[in-house]
Amino acid sequence: MIRVNNVRAGYGDGPDILQGIDLTASGGEIVTILGPNGCGKSTLLKCIAGFVRPRGGAVEMEGRDVSAVAVHDKVKHHRMGFVPQTDNVFSTLTVADNVLLGARHLPVPERNERYAELMAQYPSLASKQERKASALSGGERQILSLARALISTPKVLLLDEPSAGLSPLMMHEVFAAIAAIRDRTGMCIVMVEQNAFEALSVADRAYVLSLGKVAIEGRAADLLADPAMRHLYLGGEPPPAEPHPRLAAVS
Ligand SMILES: Nc1ncnc2c1ncn2[C@@H]1O[C@H](COP(=O)(O)OP(=O)(O)OP(=O)(O)O)[C@@H](O)[C@H]1O
Ligand SMILES: [Mg+2]
Repeated sequence: MIRVNNVRAGYGDGPDILQGIDLTASGGEIVTILGPNGCGKSTLLKCIAGFVRPRGGAVEMEGRDVSAVAVHDKVKHHRMGFVPQTDNVFSTLTVADNVLLGARHLPVPERNERYAELMAQYPSLASKQERKASALSGGERQILSLARALISTPKVLLLDEPSAGLSPLMMHEVFAAIAAIRDRTGMCIVMVEQNAFEALSVADRAYVLSLGKVAIEGRAADLLADPAMRHLYLGGEPPPAEPHPRLAAVS
């Protein structure tokens, strides 16, 4: 569904931030992009979406080279949804208007039908339809920005840090919503994340970027289990599932 071939990209006349990236993502899978701050994760997502044009290499969707295709054309012709890292809701608009913004190009009956389906799926939004988005919690805003992307039934969903700034409980809820979208729709989901453990727990495959290149790639479950990956990129060991034997012994 998405194929990134040897993509190089940067800003203005600055250096290449992405220095030859290869990535694939298919329908029915969540692919997560991990790596330290500033390594180029958002730049890669913006290249796939069309906000940044690659300097070299190519981005393909459904077998077609879309490197030079503008964002709005990808939204329309390749049914792409994009949720940016910041400023992803319009605070002064109501929840309903925020969601409906994603469906301006749909015929009214279809738009209303999709809107009703989404409200049934996300009760936390349904109960606040006429509230201003500024009155939502961080997690509710993330769900709102997801709902706005989903109203046009995309085939490809690009998410930039959907769990940013959320408490562990809300983070869990947002990731569960994303996994449910994959399972229900078979959508192709590419998700940039900082919360590596949680992202790898819902993702199918992962790419870890470092200094503009893919440092590690593989099945999410394999990366979670890899001690070198834990040490280098996941900030040490995950919290033990069972009480630590030594702690258990003293209690
Ligand atoms: N619009 C821009 N103009 C110039 N440089 C930019 C722009 N956006 C990002 N950069 C630079 O590109 C590099 C990669 O940024 P990017 O946003 O892709 O990183 P990131 O991996 O998403 O980081 P974070 O985890 O902090 O979101 C950084 O050095 C950043 O300063
Ligand atoms: Mg980023």
